[in-house]
Amino acid sequence: MIEELLKVFKEKFGDEGDIRCYFAPGRVNLIGEHTDYNGGHVFPCALSMGNYGVARKRNDNIVRWFNVNYADNGVQEADITKLAPNDHGYWYDYQQGVVWAFGQMGHKVPCGYDMVMGGDMPAGSGLSASASIEELCAVIIKDLLEVDVDMVECAKIGQYSENKFNGMNCGIMDQFASAMGKKDHAIFLDTATLNFDYVPLNLKNEKIVITNSKVKHQLAGSAYNDRRNESERALKMLQKVVNINTLGDLTEDEFEKYKDAITDPVCLKRAKHAVYENQRTIKAVEALKNDDISAFGKLMNASHVSLRDDYEVSCKELDILAEEAWKLPSVIGSRMTGGGFGGCTVSIVKSDAVNEFIEKIGKVYKERTGKSAEFYIADAGDGARRL
Ligand code: GLA
Repeated sequence: MIEELLKVFKEKFGDEGDIRCYFAPGRVNLIGEHTDYNGGHVFPCALSMGNYGVARKRNDNIVRWFNVNYADNGVQEADITKLAPNDHGYWYDYQQGVVWAFGQMGHKVPCGYDMVMGGDMPAGSGLSASASIEELCAVIIKDLLEVDVDMVECAKIGQYSENKFNGMNCGIMDQFASAMGKKDHAIFLDTATLNFDYVPLNLKNEKIVITNSKVKHQLAGSAYNDRRNESERALKMLQKVVNINTLGDLTEDEFEKYKDAITDPVCLKRAKHAVYENQRTIKAVEALKNDDISAFGKLMNASHVSLRDDYEVSCKELDILAEEAWKLPSVIGSRMTGGGFGGCTVSIVKSDAVNEFIEKIGKVYKERTGKSAEFYIADAGDGARRL
């Protein structure tokens, strides 16, 4: 990929000067869904798939971007002093948003740059291609333009840009995973404090398999933001009877004790998911640390049911993928991953049965939906970096 990008860079922008190469990964979340804006825990890992970029500093305020995956868009050009939020959601809007967010968060971007980028991951599949674009842009600004920020700040800048520039009210999980990923580890992140722990993913006899439903999810401005608002309304009602800062502060028992304060039935279901999913995530990480992969799998299944019934962010296709996976004895656990409304499931499958899993699930999914699923074996990789 990098060879191709270097070639295109030289064609578009010339080959003189200090040209540098970068990569930022997508992510898969193993458990802890829709908890990151509710002060709960998440457990994602960065992938070895993502977006690559080749870039060179300029000595004016212009940025020029070209994406080989969207060659028809041509070279996009912007003046970094004149960027303004929009909610169009094109790949270059994510880039613009990050440049803008650096300034908004008090880190002056000193000059522009030229960049050619391209990715090896499916867009709109819930594996955070957009966070990968954001963190690619952030690591370029940090390294190439020498803006003094650490990678946690890069994650915060990415989230800020997506919230305030692109109008998508996401939590910090995706940007954090892309910025802070570690090879062969998942990140157990407490989103209330940003304390985190790298947990080794040394599965002995199992693989993590991602199944792409090929239903593209549309998150911005829609149901995702509604879920966030409903959770916040539930929190406000609970705060009248119990002293908490987030839904993540409650155990299951405490939730059961105070839940009658939530008078709206929809908000009640959303809060129940947020509280129980957070507790499931804590238990799942404990199980993994104790080598109890079977307990981890059961918690993944329960997570899917809760996302389907209480948080209502699944869809027919994701339900079919999860339910069919649950029927196979070689499947330890399976659930939708990411924001939902399409995208992917993540499954833990016995290593020697992965081919059978792909064949059986692929076949039954095609029969039941008419769609062809795609499968990837997840390979937990490092976070955004210069190559
Ligand atoms: C999207 C958001 C994340 C997170 C997940 C759901 O991926 O970007 O912040 O809320 O959905 O867990």
